[in-house]
Amino acid sequence: MQVQTVGVVGCGLMGSGIAQVCAEAGYRVLVREVSEDLLAKGLGRIRSFLDKGVEKGKLTQERRAEVLGRLEGTTSLQKLAASDIVIEVVVENLAAKREVFQELDAVCPPRTLFASNTSSLSITEMAATTKRPDRFVGLHFFNPVPLMKLVEVVRSLLTSAESFENAVEFARSLGKTPVRASDKTGFVVNRLLVPYLLDAIRALEEGVGSVLDIDEGMRLGCGHPMGPLTLLDFVGLDTTYAIANIMFDEFRERRFAPPPLLKRMVQAGLFGRKSGKGFYDYSHEPAQPVAGLV
Ligand code: 3HC
Repeated sequence: MQVQTVGVVGCGLMGSGIAQVCAEAGYRVLVREVSEDLLAKGLGRIRSFLDKGVEKGKLTQERRAEVLGRLEGTTSLQKLAASDIVIEVVVENLAAKREVFQELDAVCPPRTLFASNTSSLSITEMAATTKRPDRFVGLHFFNPVPLMKLVEVVRSLLTSAESFENAVEFARSLGKTPVRASDKTGFVVNRLLVPYLLDAIRALEEGVGSVLDIDEGMRLGCGHPMGPLTLLDFVGLDTTYAIANIMFDEFRERRFAPPPLLKRMVQAGLFGRKSGKGFYDYSHEPAQPVAGLV
């Protein structure tokens, strides 16, 4: 597969990171958001990451300009017709994703490989609604995309061996380490990570320890870079809640069931870093545990 142009649908936290690493790898990138506002916000996130990289001495001004020069934002999905591969990174909702792929299917040539960055929805179910189910894979990136080395490459029941290997090679070309996974809800990482994160919330609910105790326990006792409640705030409580519900629907196992506290926090708009408050309050520097959650 000859890739020159990559289409990215969605320029939120994950989409902007994916667009950035594709541009860093030398591809021309067309990134689509639904509104000019969201597009400006997403491209701004990339610019500020690259600016910090320059400040840290990780890249030069010339390299920054070169990467940004390969990125083009648009609000038109049709514009992505010129892509050799399209990566969908919209909200974790099957109907929304299907709508995107059906529209893309009508405008992209048959050779274009379709990929979804879903963390928990079925690749097979999405692929089956297109006319190219054999050229459809999962490419699951991790947050923060520019720093995390892993990409899960997911093969559905319908993905051809050639498309799968092309996707593995593409992930490698981004400087990432691909792992191959089959289309089982949560793939490898979330199957193990989500029950752990939910258990951390249950431990808090049951009074095993405070927010700080639980986070320090896992950070210093197990060498994790972040404690589980910090990581939940980082991933987003709304996102984790959606993933947990999808996994619970699929497996009907308690370990995937969202605990009541997670549901209440999402209802209260406490989404974590993105909303300024979750298990921690980010209006303080450093962030302070939020009192009165349990
Ligand atoms: N440009 C270039 N390099 C940068 C940079 C920038 N803007 N910002 C940071 N870096 C580099 C730093 O220089 C440093 O490099 P070095 O090791 O060579 O010195 C490295 O990146 C780490 O940066 P920091 O020192 O600033 O940050 P931390 O050491 O605090 O690490 C972290 C931050 C990488 C986010 C770390 O805390 C971590 O790994 N956390 C866990 C994240 C995680 O688990 N993510 C997965 C979430 S699950 C998911 O996404 C799946 C979904 O489906 C739920």
